[in-house]
Amino acid sequence: MSIRSQIIGVGSYLPERKISNHELSQTVDTTHEWIVERTGIEFRHFASHDQKASDLATAAAQEALHNAGIKPSEIDLIVVATSTPDDNTFPSTAVSVQAKLGCNNAFAFDVSAVCSGYLVALSTADNYLRTGQAKTALVIGAEKLSGILDMEDRRTCVLFGDGAGAVILRAEETDDERGVLGVYMHSDGQFRDILHLNDKCVISMEGKEVFRHAVNKLTESALAILAKHQITCEDIDWFIPHQANVRIINAIAQKLNLPQEKIIVTVDQHANTSAASIPLALTHAIKTGRVKRGDLILHEAIGAGLVWGSALVRY
Ligand code: ACO
Repeated sequence: MSIRSQIIGVGSYLPERKISNHELSQTVDTTHEWIVERTGIEFRHFASHDQKASDLATAAAQEALHNAGIKPSEIDLIVVATSTPDDNTFPSTAVSVQAKLGCNNAFAFDVSAVCSGYLVALSTADNYLRTGQAKTALVIGAEKLSGILDMEDRRTCVLFGDGAGAVILRAEETDDERGVLGVYMHSDGQFRDILHLNDKCVISMEGKEVFRHAVNKLTESALAILAKHQITCEDIDWFIPHQANVRIINAIAQKLNLPQEKIIVTVDQHANTSAASIPLALTHAIKTGRVKRGDLILHEAIGAGLVWGSALVRY
C-alpha cells in the first residue's frame, strides 16, 4: 500500500464576457480566419473590471467542492498557480481564495510558473499529500490575463483569455492505481526573454521561438515520462495538454503518434488561459463524460521561464 493523491472533485469558471475573433478584429488589424488558422482559437472570455484572479479561482473551487461533496473546512492545503495575482506581490491570491471560501483549516500559498503553473501546483500538492503533511488539497490555476495584454498588439492580444480551473486531491492509502502517478518539471532560465512581461507590464513574446521550444521540449518530456513509467502512448487514454495553440498540440500528438480522438482540445473556446488551461480542459472532459474513472491521462505544459513538464494521472 502507498499513499496516492486521488482526484475527488473538479470545477471550472469562465467569466461571462465572451469575445469572438470578429469582435477583436474591430479594434486590431486581424481576422477570424488568421486567428483560427494559426491558433485554432475562436473565443476568449474576459473578466469584468472588478473581478480578480481570486474571484475566478473561488468560483472554480466552489464547483470543485460541490463536485467532491466536501465542505470548505475539510481542505487543509490550497495551492494557487497564477501569474496574474490579485495584488502586486503580496499577500498571495491563495489566501484571498481561502478567505472567500472559508477554508479555515487550510494552509494557502501561490506558485508562480506561468503556463506550467498548474503542473507545478499539482506536483507541490502531491508531495504534501504523499508525505502526510496534508490530507485534502485544493489545486487551482487562475488567471486574469486580460489585465496584462496590450490590446493594440495583434501578435499577442488575440492569443489569451481569463479563467480558472480547480482540482481537489485527497491522500488515500491504497493499492489501486488511481491518482497522481508522477509529475516531472524542468526549467531553463536562459530563455527567460522570449516570453516575458515587458516594462509596460504587458506580455511580450517571440511567437516562433516559443512555438519551436514548445514542440521540441514537450515531445521530449512526454517520451521521458512514458519511459520512466514503462508505458507507451497506446496505454494513454487521454492527452490533456496546456491549451495554447492547436498547432502546438497537434504537432506534439503527431510526433507521439497519438490519435486525434484521444486529445482534449478546449483552446478554441477560451484561448490560452495559462495556468488555468489544463484544469479547464480536464473539467470539461470529465463533465462531458469523455474522461471516466480509471482513465490514464497525460498532461503537458510549457510557458515563460521557460518552464515545462509532464504529468501522468489516473483519474
Ligand atoms: N492577425 C493577423 N496577422 C497577424 C497577427 C494577427 N493576430 N499576428 C501576427 N500577424 C502577422 C505578423 O505581423 C506577420 O506579418 P508580416 O509577415 O507582415 O510581418 C505574419 O502575421 C506572420 O507572423 P508570424 O509571427 O510569423 O506568425 P506565426 O505563424 O508564427 O504565428 C503565433 C504566430 C500564432 C503567435 C505562433 O508563433 C505561435 O502560436 N507561437 C506560440 C506562442 C504561444 O502559444 N504562446 C503562448 C504563451 S506560451 C505557451 O503557452 C506555450
